[in-house]
Amino acid sequence: MTLDAGTTVGVVGAGAMGAGIAQVAAQAGHRVVLCDARAEALSRAKAGMEKALARLVEKGRLSAAAAADTLARVQVAQPDASGGPNLRPLADAGLVIEAIVEDLGAKRDLVARLEQVTGPDAVLATNTSSLSVAAIASVLATPERFVGLHFFNPAPLMALVEVVPGVRSAPDLAARASALMRAWGKVPVTASDTPGFIVNRVARPFYGEALRLLEEGVADPATIDHAMRTLGGFRMGPCELMDFIGHDINFAVTKSVWEQTFHEPRYRPSLVQQRLVEAGWLGKKAGRGFYDHAQPLPAGGDDQLVAARVFGRIIAMLVNEACEAVFLGVATPADVELAMTRGVNYPQGLLAWGDALGPQRLVDTLRGLQQELGPERYRPSAHLVRRAAEGRSLLA
Ligand SMILES: NC(=O)c1ccc[n+]([C@@H]2O[C@H](COP(=O)([O-])OP(=O)(O)OC[C@H]3O[C@@H](n4cnc5c(N)ncnc54)[C@H](O)[C@@H]3O)[C@@H](O)[C@H]2O)c1
Repeated sequence: MTLDAGTTVGVVGAGAMGAGIAQVAAQAGHRVVLCDARAEALSRAKAGMEKALARLVEKGRLSAAAAADTLARVQVAQPDASGGPNLRPLADAGLVIEAIVEDLGAKRDLVARLEQVTGPDAVLATNTSSLSVAAIASVLATPERFVGLHFFNPAPLMALVEVVPGVRSAPDLAARASALMRAWGKVPVTASDTPGFIVNRVARPFYGEALRLLEEGVADPATIDHAMRTLGGFRMGPCELMDFIGHDINFAVTKSVWEQTFHEPRYRPSLVQQRLVEAGWLGKKAGRGFYDHAQPLPAGGDDQLVAARVFGRIIAMLVNEACEAVFLGVATPADVELAMTRGVNYPQGLLAWGDALGPQRLVDTLRGLQQELGPERYRPSAHLVRRAAEGRSLLA
């Protein structure tokens, strides 16, 4: 089956992600069927979509007629009397994307049911952030039609989609899914089915190394944030970003990546962050995390030496992580660059950044940290070491 504007798209799970994905598909011209186990999730999703489209009309980005047509293309499937999602209206869908709760058992149950209600050619996709695509697909009789499509929040605004073929996905499925994502105005990158895919893996040191610097007493949160904003050009420093994301969520992602990589020391979760979670200082949503959000955020220290040390350590670890992702075939160099600039708005691609800073200088920084702090966590990636020795670009 071809995936084009004539394809009916099903979305199961009408929460933050599912509602956004449904809107994107409808704006791209598809008829969309949105399902959820809870009627209130469906009405909230539809109301949210109406509001988002009305805002686009106000801003002159969409005509009132186009907004009305988009909404009319979205059909909401009210839950079954039994309290489950009503999947029957998905019978003629050519693509169904699940965005339900992040639970392997629930997702497996759902995709097995989707396999029954859809035609044999329909593509089934998961928006999972942390589960393995292969594990979800393992319950299917036809795992070749299953793929990961990892959107970012909010889906209508964030361009990046990580396309994740599973071990048993059909060889051409990722390319077909990527072509469809491009037709939706998205920027697809292909990621291997590995913990955290590209973004949630390569971004780990932004948080993890900041937490280590805090633990070691090198700098306080305001100084770390100030350094990464002013020297790195990041929109937010790591501590304010963790406060913004929520420490419960950020800690859970780190823990999941660490556990799934068989306790890789680079990803080890931080006790500092665990204590914040235990204390209920979850960040902005709780009014308190590293910062008291009732107050303006503190400006941060102006000790240039400390700032340079902080920035040097975090950027070396980020570039190293990007190199390791390339080395292990998580993605191509070009896709690693796209993922970090379009998925989490990094000011530039990490491999190009590493080239600008000098690969050999980064190797030296990491080897210094290895000697001072331990061999495993700071070991330079073979990709970084090789390119430094060859005098070649990290993008090669
Ligand atoms: N929130 C994010 O930033 C983000 C980003 C990328 C991917 N994801 C992934 O997207 C998925 C959904 O996340 P979310 O933040 O939208 O969650 P959410 O809690 O906002 O929404 C989940 C929705 O799924 C419904 N649901 C739960 N179990 C169901 C079932 N068995 N059948 C039908 N509906 C069911 C719930 O009623 C709810 O409306 C998860 O896999 C998550 O990991 C989330």
